[in-house]
Amino acid sequence: MRSANPFAPTFGALPPVLAGRADVIGDIAAAWETGPTHPGYTALLLGRRGTGKTVVLEELRTLAQRRGWLTVSAAAVTPGLLDRLSHAAAEHLNRAAEALDADLRGDLAAAGIGIAAAYDPGADLARRLGTVLSVLARHLDRQGAGMVVTVDELHAGHADELRTLGIALQDVTRLAQLPMAFVGAGLPVLEDTLLSDESVTFLQRCGRYEVGFLDHAAARTALAEPIRQRGGRMSPEAIEHAVEAAGGYPFMVQLVGFHSWEAAAEPDTAVTVSDAVEGAQVAQQHIGQLVIAPLWRDQPDSARRFLIAMAHDDSESQLADIARRMDVTSGYVSVYRARLVKSGLVAATDKRSVTFALPGTRRWIRDLDVFAHVSETLHLTDGRSVGFTIPHD
Ligand SMILES: Nc1ncnc2c1ncn2[C@@H]1O[C@H](COP(=O)(O)OP(=O)(O)OP(=O)(O)O)[C@@H](O)[C@H]1O
Ligand SMILES: [Mg+2]
Repeated sequence: MRSANPFAPTFGALPPVLAGRADVIGDIAAAWETGPTHPGYTALLLGRRGTGKTVVLEELRTLAQRRGWLTVSAAAVTPGLLDRLSHAAAEHLNRAAEALDADLRGDLAAAGIGIAAAYDPGADLARRLGTVLSVLARHLDRQGAGMVVTVDELHAGHADELRTLGIALQDVTRLAQLPMAFVGAGLPVLEDTLLSDESVTFLQRCGRYEVGFLDHAAARTALAEPIRQRGGRMSPEAIEHAVEAAGGYPFMVQLVGFHSWEAAAEPDTAVTVSDAVEGAQVAQQHIGQLVIAPLWRDQPDSARRFLIAMAHDDSESQLADIARRMDVTSGYVSVYRARLVKSGLVAATDKRSVTFALPGTRRWIRDLDVFAHVSETLHLTDGRSVGFTIPHD
C-alpha cells in the first residue's frame, strides 16, 4: 500500500524537512541563550509570500517550549492583537496563580487584572498588555525560566497596536532586561512602511533575518529527503527536474514534491523523472491559483497593465522597455515598480530592470484572457507578436 504523501503544500503547514533554515534558527536560539543584550533577542523574519516565515516561527516556538520557556503568540491579521496577546499571557498567569509572589499579585490587582477564579476571558485587556507581560516575565525570571512572544503577519498590523506592542516589549525586554524574547514575521513591505515609521522604534531596532528562497542544495534536500525517509529514491534526473521547477521557492518545493509523489506508481520505492515532470506541471497550475491569483486580485488595473507589459519578456524586463510599451514616463514606471516590489509580485534585479518575484508568474499572466486584450493596447515596438503565440517560460 502507498504510504501517505509526506509533502505539505499548505500555508503554515510544517514541511517534512525544514531545509536551509539552520542559520536563522540557530542564531535566534543563540540569542535566547545569551539574553536581552544579543541583537537577535528581539528579531524580525522578513520574506515574500510562501517562503516559510510562519513555519520558522512555529519551529522557534517548539524550540522555546523544549527549553522550558513559555510562548505567547498571535497574528496581526485582524484587529485586537493586543487583547489576544494579553489573554494568551494571562492564561499562563492563571496556571501559575498559586506560585505568584505577593508583589506580582498586587501589581495585577492594581491594574484590575483578574486571574485564576477572577479571570474574565471576555475582559478587554488591550491596554493592560504591558502589565500582563511584565508580571509574567518577572515571575519567570524569578523561576530561572523565560518566554518568547511571537507575532505573525506584522505587515497587516494596525500601526497604533504595533506601537503599543513595541512600547510594552521595549519596557520589559530592553529596559528591565527581563527574559522575554520577541520574534515577529511579515512581508518585506514592512521595511518601507512600519520600519520607516519613526514611532515604531522598537521594530526598527529588532535584528532582521531574511527568510528567502532556498539555494540549490537546500531545495534538493527538501525534495529528496522526505522520499528517502519513506524508503524511496528519487533519481538524480528527477531531483534536478524538480529543483529546477521549484525555483528555490519553498511553497513550490512542497507542491512539486507533493504532485511528483502522487504521479509515481510506487513513490515509496522510486520517483522517476517522468513523475517529476508530471508533478511539476500540476504544481505549476496550482501555484497560480493559490499564490499568484490572490496577489493579482489586489492590484489596480494600472499595475496589472505594468505586469502584462513585463510578461512580454522571456526573462527580466528593462524599465525603459516597459515605459515604451505603456507609453508612459520613466517616473511613472518607477512608482509602479516600487509598488509592485512591495506587493511581493515583482523583484528588482537592478536599478534598470525588474523580474517576477515568484516562479510561474509570467506563464500564469500569459494564460489570462486579459493578457491578449491589454497587449493590444500596448506599444510592442520591439516587434513581438501579441497574444497566444508567445512561448511559455
Ligand atoms: N525551509 C523549507 N523547506 C521546505 N518547505 C518549506 C520550507 N519553509 C516553508 N516550506 C513550505 O512552504 C509553504 C509556505 O510556508 P509558510 O506558510 O510558512 O510561508 P509564509 O512565509 O508564512 O507565507 P505567507 O507570507 O503567505 O504567510 C508551506 O507549504 C511549507 O511547508
Ligand atoms: Mg505565514
